Amino acid sequence: MATTIAAPKKKVAPKAGDDFLPLEGTDYIEFYVGNAKQAAHYYKSVFGFQSLAYAGPETGIKDRASYAIRQNKLTFVLTTPIRGSEQIADHIFKHGDGVKVIALKVKDATSAWKETTKRGGNSYMEPTTLKDKHGKVVMSGIHTYGDTVHVFVERGDYAGPFMPGFEKWEPGFETKEVGLLYCDHCVGNVGWNQMNPWVKFYEEVMGFRNILTFDDKDISTEYSALMSKVMSNGNGFVKFPINEPAEGKKKSQVEEYLDFYNGEGVQHIAIATGDIVKTVTELQKRGLEFLNIPSTYYDTLPERVGHIDEDLGPLKRLGILVDRDNEGYLLQIFSKPVEDRPTLFFEIIQRKGAQSFGKGNFKALFEALEKEQDRRGNL
Ligand code: FE2
Repeated sequence: MATTIAAPKKKVAPKAGDDFLPLEGTDYIEFYVGNAKQAAHYYKSVFGFQSLAYAGPETGIKDRASYAIRQNKLTFVLTTPIRGSEQIADHIFKHGDGVKVIALKVKDATSAWKETTKRGGNSYMEPTTLKDKHGKVVMSGIHTYGDTVHVFVERGDYAGPFMPGFEKWEPGFETKEVGLLYCDHCVGNVGWNQMNPWVKFYEEVMGFRNILTFDDKDISTEYSALMSKVMSNGNGFVKFPINEPAEGKKKSQVEEYLDFYNGEGVQHIAIATGDIVKTVTELQKRGLEFLNIPSTYYDTLPERVGHIDEDLGPLKRLGILVDRDNEGYLLQIFSKPVEDRPTLFFEIIQRKGAQSFGKGNFKALFEALEKEQDRRGNL
């Protein structure tokens, strides 16, 4: 079976009343990490995030320290256990540093919880109201793949820096932003034969649609393969591709992830930029490592994608990939994993009309990934 496009690719606003889980986008992404102070510094120094808010013993939160950092519409929270927080410590022991929460912005967190749990969602947090002098935030949540959760955040009545429990964080050290705008999509790796059950979960429990499907013929190299289905919510603001490993001659990159993460979890976060050459130049200068793309990739690029606005020189120097679909083209690049385990990595993406995910780049990309996997002795 070839790639199928199962629904219109344009963002179609749902008719009033037919979306039982209206989402306004990603609210924040929370990572459980071994050292939140240092992780926050890394994301500020390398990715250009700005200090936003802090929660910890000084703000009345005894068991953990959390640093919220922000760049445009993208908010990360780095959390570490301090004492008496086995749940966070166990998560880090099992998975290493990784994504725990993909929080979604809603108008009504109580309704989001009721609608999703009614449809079979497994509750992580019942609707809970948090208050401080800046107002109130209502949160609720459900479990998704692995130990990952979705938290619904209703912050219509809140004017504080981030969330009750947090105080403004002004450490006196900031770096320049690098042009990261918002979360374009967030990809989950799930186990053998688990893609379709999770597709069903997003369809039935969260009202998402399957907008693209890639089978192992689309995404395979000489050695390894994977399959992927892209799930999107009604207005297209939230997209979750789901990958599962497929049989190949050698170990699939998804399998390597599952081995080292000890289960299912977030594989990569794709962040949008309006000027990928500028953003990636700055990220590289600050030490973010990207996958090396064979320079032969650029030999056939003009005939494959046709005219693009960007000069080929900088794209080739930086290793930026280009792909075209019916609606336009996109530019993208993938970092190496940002932990010692070969788990979470980042994608930087600039869309120029295209709403797809770079299918034409899969082969070049996975060959580059396998080179890294081979160096780790895991291919
Ligand atoms: Fe991606």
